Amino acid sequence: MSDAPATTANVMEQIVSLCKRRGFVYQASEIYGGLRGFWDYGPLGVLLKNNIRDWWWRNMVECPPIGPDGKIVDMVGLDSSIIQHPKTWEASGHTATFADPMRKCVKCGHILRADHYWDILATQSKWFADLMTTTDNGTKTDADTLIRWVKNKARKSAPNLAAVSHPTVTPPLAPDVQALVHALADGNEPCILCGGPLGTPEQFNLMMISYAGLQQTAENLVYLRPETAQGIFLDYKNVLDTTRVKVPFGVAQVGKSFRNEVTPRNFIFRSREFEQMEMEFFCPPDDALMWYDFWRNERMKWWLTLGVKAENLKFREHAQDELSHYSKATVDIEYKYPFTAPDFGELEGIAHRGSFDLTQHQTHSGQKLDYFDQELQLKLKAEGVPDDQVKARSRYIPNVIEPASGLTRAVLVLLCESYRHEKGRQGTEEYLSIKPRFAPIKAGIFPLVNKEGMPEVAEKIYLDLRQSFTCEYDPKQSIGKRYARMDEVGTPYCITVDGDTLTGQTVTVRERDTMSQERVSIDKLKLFLTDKINS
Ligand code: GAP
Repeated sequence: MSDAPATTANVMEQIVSLCKRRGFVYQASEIYGGLRGFWDYGPLGVLLKNNIRDWWWRNMVECPPIGPDGKIVDMVGLDSSIIQHPKTWEASGHTATFADPMRKCVKCGHILRADHYWDILATQSKWFADLMTTTDNGTKTDADTLIRWVKNKARKSAPNLAAVSHPTVTPPLAPDVQALVHALADGNEPCILCGGPLGTPEQFNLMMISYAGLQQTAENLVYLRPETAQGIFLDYKNVLDTTRVKVPFGVAQVGKSFRNEVTPRNFIFRSREFEQMEMEFFCPPDDALMWYDFWRNERMKWWLTLGVKAENLKFREHAQDELSHYSKATVDIEYKYPFTAPDFGELEGIAHRGSFDLTQHQTHSGQKLDYFDQELQLKLKAEGVPDDQVKARSRYIPNVIEPASGLTRAVLVLLCESYRHEKGRQGTEEYLSIKPRFAPIKAGIFPLVNKEGMPEVAEKIYLDLRQSFTCEYDPKQSIGKRYARMDEVGTPYCITVDGDTLTGQTVTVRERDTMSQERVSIDKLKLFLTDKINS
């Protein structure tokens, strides 16, 4: 892949625009004005998403890595229901604790997430953007400048700002944007829209609700799952009883999750409907830390196989006070998104969930979910451990290590990672340098001209190759325009049938990133592409 980075500052806008223009991602319900936090994956977006999903499934379920003990890892797949018994969410803690702190503007009623306040202000507030321009990003904050701003521009853009109603401002002693905003708002955080005071934070549950049954009553209330994980815990015993797996083993699933996110933003990064790829690994409590270390390292390696550069990924350990209610330890794999750079943002979390979930479901359902570990019993006996201890230690509730990532977030990462903008590049300045394995279309097949027997040969090649790869046949427009269109959507190879094909049975194969061309004989094409795509 080419190493040339995108050159412009507003990369994110360009990526969003390319995604719309070329059919990767559309705003959901666009003809009705859109619905915040919901996205549709277009003809190319769904191919890209499916390619990532299939690679995850291949590497987690069908071909998981060899375990830290050198043994084959047992792994099975699952597709559980999106809607589960409401008690599921009581047991998991979601009805009680899956909430974000919210603040409401006392004047205009706008609601925002309290813990993201400064971030939201910086990216979404018009009056704040104007204040930053006026004060040179908070460095020019003498009283005259501020009073002038308050009396003129702020009157229109932030009419409910405290300083607008009583135009006296004590500028901060040193350049400090937060102190500046506090100085203009009587020491408070003002509304990002009108500048009015925000109320105290209140907890807001993120689960989306629906009703299963004809009547919309409390008994029929159900939740759209906020994570795929709980379906796996509910089926843990079914899997044990109906397959040949033994602890340690994993259950993996990919599917939709729903969260009533207060501030869905940054394109598909945080949406209200999204897809997750989660795996719950059930292991003996004594081995949990070993598996936790193992999966965090394996998951990082996996992201590298997507073609993500190592310098754009990093681990971030959760501090004790940041851990979810179920977690004993969590580490995030973070990516340097264009909208977080030079900082990083979450991509995947690997959590040590202890025995929290199975214990909770055992208590709430009344079903026994413990496990008798015969191998451990034999091992302890052989080690001469006293009988009472052998008995106690070989029956346990397994611990769980959970690598949980977002599939839709992975799509975003691949788009950001592969986006290139090269000034003066032939055909198109923008293209996607996606690793061939994940490219939505693997090859474009073109007759050089739409006559002289070339379309017939190209169509024949297309019909043959599409048995093995996603290909596109395109006989129209100039060849340069067709190459450019394929570059823009990340197609790694373009195959052109020309005059020499008719005599020599060879075609040109053009490579996207280098734009170099080579001649390949038609009967070797499939092998040629297979080698390139699988490498
Ligand atoms: N079962 C654990 C769990 O769900 P999480 O950190 O809340 O953990 C896991 O979610 C992953 O799901 C995140 O790392 C992220 O990639 C993705 N994700 C979470 N919320 C999301 C949202 N609103 N939009 C898109 N992806 C999201």
